[in-house]
Amino acid sequence: MSEPMEIDSTKNKGLTWTEKYRPKTLDDIAHQEEVVTMLKGALKGRDLPHLLFYGPPGTGKTSTALAFCHQLFNKNIFHDRVLDLNASDERGISVVRQKVQAFSKKTLGSSKEDVLKLKIIILDEVDAMTREAQSAMRRVIEDYSKTTRFILICNYVSRLIPPVVSRCAKFRFKSLPREIQLQRLRSICEAESFLMRKGELELVMKYSEGDLRRAVCMLQSLAPILKNENITSRDCYLNGSSDETLISNVCDSISVSDVPQIIEITKSITKSCSGVSFIRRCFQKMLDDDIINDENIAIMGKLVATCEKRILDGCDLENNLLDFLLTLRETLH
Ligand SMILES: Nc1ncnc2c1ncn2[C@@H]1O[C@H](COP(=O)(O)OP(=O)(O)O)[C@@H](O)[C@H]1O
Ligand SMILES: [Mg+2]
Repeated sequence: MSEPMEIDSTKNKGLTWTEKYRPKTLDDIAHQEEVVTMLKGALKGRDLPHLLFYGPPGTGKTSTALAFCHQLFNKNIFHDRVLDLNASDERGISVVRQKVQAFSKKTLGSSKEDVLKLKIIILDEVDAMTREAQSAMRRVIEDYSKTTRFILICNYVSRLIPPVVSRCAKFRFKSLPREIQLQRLRSICEAESFLMRKGELELVMKYSEGDLRRAVCMLQSLAPILKNENITSRDCYLNGSSDETLISNVCDSISVSDVPQIIEITKSITKSCSGVSFIRRCFQKMLDDDIINDENIAIMGKLVATCEKRILDGCDLENNLLDFLLTLRETLH
């Protein structure tokens, strides 16, 4: 039986709760049995292939990679053996050349406790890398396979070049069931000594849309309010998804706005929230409110998907939002 997640709210003050309550060991990772079993095998010395973790945000991909590396390498050798490049780093070809290649070339120091004589490179959000950088990475993967393993992490496999994908064992991270999310959120509330009712936790889960990281962030920002009073959906909007009011306003006013007004709306949206989620949720609201006809649902659904792909591929957010809103206005006329 695994030990319960180590929870001590007095430790690590000042960390965000996502970091503070990040699973420390593979046993703390919920609901991703397949990958956990494989990694436990590697901890016992079984072969470790290059890995590709993919799936929705907030399902444990980064946590799993980090927990595994911490269990594999003790503190003294961790930094010699693990290179962790995350989303905030530059993703162009120069990074692959400089950091990744330099690290791959380093010779391994020996350590008695070494289970796997390997170095590990964790590349988070590889789907944001340019194709050029991915090709460069593919060559590094080939050249240094003897001593280096890659753990690539992304949301969408479709954005990776096939030769990279084919070199990795793929693990899809499953969305976390509500019960598991509830359990994690409850244990955090307990550790932070504040009480949340089931209905309130349900609200947090609703607005975090299955993304446990978002839910944990929301919990952290709600904590000061919660210590005094019950939360309402409004607090959830305010703290986690402030775009909700904006979405309602846009849906209500779009059909009577002229083009200059829509350009202004677009600018204010790009300043205040993530365009991709805005577009998707705006579309959802129109479906919920039953304000577009079947034919236009098909048109708008296709446009939502197109805009989302373009934005994630790096196209201009403002132009895509504008395209979405102008088309939406036409369909409502
Ligand atoms: N499978 C999981 N088991 C336990 N905690 C999880 C899991 N998935 C997400 N979490 C929680 O959500 C936070 C974010 O998880 P993370 O590993 O960064 O997700 P991802 O990399 O898939 O976006 C973690 O700090 C942890 O508290
Ligand atoms: Mg991650």
